[in-house]
Amino acid sequence: MTLLEAAKSCREKAYAPYSNFKVGAAIRTASGAVYTGCNVENVAYPEGTCAEAGAIAAMVAAGETEIAEAFVIAASPTPVSPCGGCRQKLAEFSVGDVKITMATMEGVSLTMTMSDLLPGAFERSHMEES
Ligand code: THU
Repeated sequence: MTLLEAAKSCREKAYAPYSNFKVGAAIRTASGAVYTGCNVENVAYPEGTCAEAGAIAAMVAAGETEIAEAFVIAASPTPVSPCGGCRQKLAEFSVGDVKITMATMEGVSLTMTMSDLLPGAFERSHMEES
C-alpha cells in the first residue's frame, strides 16, 4: 500500500463533525512500517487532534521514532498544509531532508522537505547553556 492509499483510507474514518473537514495522514518509518492517523474532534475543543498527531501517536506507541516519509491528504482546493503545531511534532521525529507530501483528493500534490516546512525550528540545541 502506498502512503497515499494509506492516508486516504484512514481519512475516511476521520471524526470531524464540527469542521466537516476530514484529514488523513500516513507515516513511513525507517523500518518500513506505515502508521496512519485521522483528525478526531470533540465538542469542547472543536479543532480536536490533527491527523498528523494521530499518525505520530500510533508510530510512537509501536516503539518507533524515526520518520522516513510522511503524507497528508484532505479534500481541500490546494494541498493541505500541516498546522504549526503539527510541523513541530513532525520535526521532532524527522531529519531536515525528510519529505512531507501534501495532497488534495483531486490528485494535486506538493512535496516539501521538513526543513522547508519548518525553517528555523526550535531544537534541543537551543536549550544548551552558552
Ligand atoms: N487538521 C488536520 O488534521 N491536519 C492539518 O494539517 C490541518 C488541520 C484538522 C484539524 C481539525 O479537525 C480540522 O482539520 C480543521 O481545522
